[in-house]
Amino acid sequence: MARKLKLGVLVSGRGSNLQAIMDRCQAGKLDAEVAVVISNVATAQALERAQQVGIPTASFPRTQFSTREARDVEILRTLQQHQVDLVILAGYLGILSTDLVGAFRNRILNIHPSLLPAFGGPDRHGLRVHQAVLEYGAKVTGCTVQFVTEEVDAGPIIVQRAVPVMEDDTPDTLSARVLEQEHEAYSEAIQLFAKGRLSVEGRRVRILPPQ
Ligand code: GRF
Repeated sequence: MARKLKLGVLVSGRGSNLQAIMDRCQAGKLDAEVAVVISNVATAQALERAQQVGIPTASFPRTQFSTREARDVEILRTLQQHQVDLVILAGYLGILSTDLVGAFRNRILNIHPSLLPAFGGPDRHGLRVHQAVLEYGAKVTGCTVQFVTEEVDAGPIIVQRAVPVMEDDTPDTLSARVLEQEHEAYSEAIQLFAKGRLSVEGRRVRILPPQ
């Protein structure tokens, strides 16, 4: 059997995307395994989720490092120690240093809860994204999985899923429906990567036919 893709998942909070990925790995639906979970928040619920199933974790709290670069040196070292092939940002609140992005060029994925390039950017995360969608009056939103580049929320797009906005939606109800799609979209993107079916051509990601 071919070696499974080793994932390093970066988290800051709840970890429902991490859970969805771990569950699908466990069920054999992904040709991947979570090798390590790393957080910049020591109390992140996501870390407990990983520990419960015996996955190694590491935490590098923001307060312990004077710069992002210094913290990312440790993150990079940890990813390399665990022989990570693909880095997954799953609710990771932090911008990666250029060194880390460069070390894993086209091997870092992020998920964002809107249809990028709409409602993205450094200040748009969590419920703020859905609040902005509702305030703007958009009729359709969704989620986007993309490769991470130096610019926040601007990397080549791998998978997007659309979610209609309902008349009576609140940021919470919209967030819940988008989250269901996030869990599907992230696994779809990871499996495409695992199968070698993603070809990055400038801004475009070409999905190659199954081999
Ligand atoms: C998700 O909505 C994701 O799109 C965004 O942060 C949230 C993380 O949720 N980047 P969870 O921690 O995976 O439950």
